[in-house]
Amino acid sequence: MADLRNTFAGISSLNPFWLASAPPTDKAYNVHRAFEAGWGGVVWKTLGEDGPPIVNVSGPRYGALLTPDRRMLGFNNIELITDRPLRTNLDEIRDVKRQWPDRALVVSLMVPCTESAWKAILPMVEDTGADGIELNFGCPHGMSERGMGSAVGQVPEYIEMVTAWCKQHGRLPVIVKLTPNISDIRQPAAAAKRGGADAVSLINTISSIMGVDPATLTMSPSTGGMGSHGGYCGPAVKPIALNMVAEIGRAPATAGLPISGIGGVGSWRDALDYIALGATNVQVCTAAMVYGFKIVQEMVDGLSDYMDSMGFKTTADFQGRALPTVTDWQYLNLNATSKAVIDQASCIQCGRCHIACEDTSHQAITAVKDGKRHFAVKDDECVGCNLCVTVCPVPDCITLRTLAPGEMDTRTGQPVRAEPLNWTAHPNNPSRAATA
Ligand SMILES: Cc1cc2nc3c(=O)[nH]c(=O)nc-3n(C[C@H](O)[C@H](O)[C@H](O)COP(=O)(O)O)c2cc1C
Ligand code: SF4
Ligand code: SF4
Repeated sequence: MADLRNTFAGISSLNPFWLASAPPTDKAYNVHRAFEAGWGGVVWKTLGEDGPPIVNVSGPRYGALLTPDRRMLGFNNIELITDRPLRTNLDEIRDVKRQWPDRALVVSLMVPCTESAWKAILPMVEDTGADGIELNFGCPHGMSERGMGSAVGQVPEYIEMVTAWCKQHGRLPVIVKLTPNISDIRQPAAAAKRGGADAVSLINTISSIMGVDPATLTMSPSTGGMGSHGGYCGPAVKPIALNMVAEIGRAPATAGLPISGIGGVGSWRDALDYIALGATNVQVCTAAMVYGFKIVQEMVDGLSDYMDSMGFKTTADFQGRALPTVTDWQYLNLNATSKAVIDQASCIQCGRCHIACEDTSHQAITAVKDGKRHFAVKDDECVGCNLCVTVCPVPDCITLRTLAPGEMDTRTGQPVRAEPLNWTAHPNNPSRAATA
């Protein structure tokens, strides 16, 4: 039986499923309900410094990208950090932690970029008994205009400096939450490590505009007829986040730095992707907001069943296992050859594969045979691009077959070579390394 217990940045929890800092973790009422549902940990909604409360818009702060059948693909928000008094949050955090000693309770923080501001808030958080702090260097709207959030996260020197202050003046584990609104995620991750971070978490939200109302031609959603960019998250951002997680895991300067994977996690399968690419645990926001706290039960059961089926006792048994399979394009084996294969028994003859390949790929799928609709792959045209597989509405009706070494590729008229050949040594590469 799989053991889902997990330790991240020195913080232990029942399972690797945490709620990310966001509305689901904004108050004790929510967090109690989340823990009752089975979440292993939470990162409390970001606290700011003491003072006049944060003011949010009193109108649509959320927007969404939906499929035609109204399934959520992407989610956008212009919400700021907590708008509840600091003291109320601290008192609730203390109380919740006391009642749930076996769950992880990390507090997200965002205060002005001065040593005194960070030094002042750290002891207040420590006094609650919380397990760690997460530095919110990621929020891309509102707070960034005030010199916080992603305004800090986009400058590696600031990340290093603030992280070092938190290590120097505090005693709790420090998780640095990174913004994806940057061209090279390895830079801020390395800065966090230099500053002494115990771990990084990523991603926070991606700067975004959801669209325009066609009747009024105003940005939508709008606040009094005007809109401002928000932060994008949900299933649509997962591939972006996974790439960033893998980039950090692969880079020599940051390899081994513990990672909490965030972005589009809604099921155990999503969590598996993050963990296999090197994350120790995952955090969830949008899926909990859309489907409620009980989704964690599917996550726990699904991951546990998967681990049993694979013979994994703990998540450490597969953590990072997929990372060595991530490389740069130039190292891919250009001799590896695939062809699409259509299973005639399950084909419903909708024709989508034909039109996709005919109009935009390699004209490699027939539409008619003996005067009847018939969809079959022409091996002598197919380049194995995978487009037809992705557009076919019937699962597993089209698959890609890898040609065996020595097998004739009728497209090139050459047998498939057994030895790998990548771009660095390819004869067409004008700057290839000279070979003996
Ligand atoms: C409405 C909303 C409010 C958020 N507030 C915060 C916040 O206060 N602090 C923070 O670090 N991240 C905040 N986030 C970002 C999430 O913690 C998370 O990084 C992001 O939503 C990606 O995860 P997801 O795809 O599971 O939603 C917020 C996200 C949403 C949707
Ligand atoms: S794999 Fe690409 S080239 Fe081959 S049949 Fe499908 S769409 Fe056409
Ligand atoms: S898209 Fe799939 S189901 Fe439709 S014709 Fe092609 S193989 Fe058949």
